[in-house]
Amino acid sequence: MIHMEEITDLEIVKKHLHLFTGNILSFSRELFNVTGRRNPKGWEMLLHRIKRDDPDFLPAFEDPNDLIPQIWEGGHWIDLAKRLHRQKPDITVGGWEGRVKAARLNGALVRKTKDEYVIEHMQTPSLSPEDLWAFVSQASEKAIAGKESSRWADVHFNEGDKYIGIAFASDQHIGNKFCDHKRLKEDALLVAEANNCFIIHAGDYIDNFVVDKPRPAMKADIPPSAQWKLCEHYIDLHGESLFAIVAGNHDLWTSGLTDYDPLGKLASERGILYHKHELNIRAHIGGQKYHLSIRHKRRGNSSLHPARVIKAMWSDGEQDFDIGVVGHHHTPVIENFTRHGIERWAIRPGAYKVLDAYAEMLGFAQERPSCPMVILSPYDRQIQAFSDLRTGLRTLKMLNGEYHGIAEGNNLGE
Ligand SMILES: [Fe+2]
Ligand SMILES: [Fe+2]
Repeated sequence: MIHMEEITDLEIVKKHLHLFTGNILSFSRELFNVTGRRNPKGWEMLLHRIKRDDPDFLPAFEDPNDLIPQIWEGGHWIDLAKRLHRQKPDITVGGWEGRVKAARLNGALVRKTKDEYVIEHMQTPSLSPEDLWAFVSQASEKAIAGKESSRWADVHFNEGDKYIGIAFASDQHIGNKFCDHKRLKEDALLVAEANNCFIIHAGDYIDNFVVDKPRPAMKADIPPSAQWKLCEHYIDLHGESLFAIVAGNHDLWTSGLTDYDPLGKLASERGILYHKHELNIRAHIGGQKYHLSIRHKRRGNSSLHPARVIKAMWSDGEQDFDIGVVGHHHTPVIENFTRHGIERWAIRPGAYKVLDAYAEMLGFAQERPSCPMVILSPYDRQIQAFSDLRTGLRTLKMLNGEYHGIAEGNNLGE
């Protein structure tokens, strides 16, 4: 609302509109200079109120900021300010410098220095709180959805009438002198050469070398670069049978210290499912669907009851899995348990690193390598679990009508 005294002022504004050049601040000073009334700030407030109540009252002028380009391919920012001053001399070079700076902070102006890339000003854009909230909310929604979905996968096995074997191996610790490399290769080739058998790896491929671990872990005989090379060779021994990998803490030290994840790269180059921490796989076999949940490590471990961590994962986790697999502690276990009236399986692959100087120092017993395996039926929900690959493969062959006795040359490592 405009008051009586302001009506007079309004008439003054009308009378001097020819002095308005698009800038309320300078028009306020002009009004003060020609009338001697109010003060520049008072005129400015009045003009803003008039503009708010009647947006068409003040003549439209081009916004000088429209002259600022979106990308500046020249040199220094001052050169841009000088160029703009030549285009519109009534704004000083200093005035243009201020406007250029504001545009950069808003993200409306970026500087291009090379053909190959654009340097973007990464300061927070001066968005309204509502716009900023919407922007952040959208970005977080996308991030959460991506994170969640990357842990899930559907795998459809094409042989609809065959029993499917899935083996689990973890804690290879390749490169460590106490790793049973002979057994490692043998198991990989057994799976690769078997029909209808596949394998999932649950982490700690390599031993790595880290400076913040106790001294025994620092005495790596083979440097990390050679360990990764051996790891790549080991992965390739499996051929197409290796279809999913969850990383272990030893594998993640490199990506934790740098921005480079060598295992993730190896997996993506080969089209293998990969996640740093957890995979949930819905295996579709014939008419059946089995849910496998695999992690390298998880809170809730008990060294006296190694299967407990998987039961805890079922109870307080998010997934209603049929088979839970957790590596890391190097103690092999196969144990069934019941949840919601259905038999589930807790599987902990052992370690191919059979001796551990650090574990020995703490009084842990020697481990044995194991590569447990499950056989999943295509006909009804039926899971058979085996503590070792060899017994599992023999049964798988029998179920699929391939096994006719050792004498007929089945290569099962006997
Ligand atoms: Fe390990
Ligand atoms: Fe581990």
